Amino acid sequence: MKLFIDTAAIEEIREAASWGVIDGVTTNPSLVAKTGRSLEEALTDILEIVDGPISAEVVSTEADGMIEEGRRLARIHPNVVVKIPMIEEGLKAIRALADEDISVNTTLIFQPAQGLLAAKAGATYLSPFVGRLDDIGEDGMAMVHSLIDMLENYDYPAQVLVASVRNPGHVISAAEMGADVATCPMSVLRQIMKHPLTDIGLEKFLADYNKSR
Ligand code: E4P
Repeated sequence: MKLFIDTAAIEEIREAASWGVIDGVTTNPSLVAKTGRSLEEALTDILEIVDGPISAEVVSTEADGMIEEGRRLARIHPNVVVKIPMIEEGLKAIRALADEDISVNTTLIFQPAQGLLAAKAGATYLSPFVGRLDDIGEDGMAMVHSLIDMLENYDYPAQVLVASVRNPGHVISAAEMGADVATCPMSVLRQIMKHPLTDIGLEKFLADYNKSR
């Protein structure tokens, strides 16, 4: 499973990339706004750090505007993936951009049939939002399971990118289900890496080593 980092914060991206396990980056307008920079400024730095798919989201809500923004973003670098919301106008834009061989990540997917539509429209990535579903008492990973099951019956090239990840359990379930990608905030990447017994074990090994010298 590919691991993306879900942030526009350059220091986080630099740190996670240095671990050697980050395959790409996802951003959204909220994450970019937190940096106080423009999307284009953030993208310039991100593209220098990570050589993989970098999702950049449009802010238009009409198909024509999304297509124009998408073309402009895609021109910045071949690694840029245009993020389009799962709305009617979005579907039109996904089809138009896909027909121009521009990679699209369909965002804000909350039920499997939305994913099916985006796959049919030609999206490269489908982003089901698991944490936000859990927040309203639904089961986000069950939705991902259903989406993966559905796609296995057909030959759409779309990849399932598990988004709105809130904890290591989401990542483990995503990998067990065979999701193509999970995008994680830095906090979850750190949680995945850490186990208290690893720290206790290392402390004991080093203490014993120092005693024996
Ligand atoms: C990434 O593509 C999504 O925009 C992001 O994972 C949303 O996460 P959130 O629900 O924690 O805001």
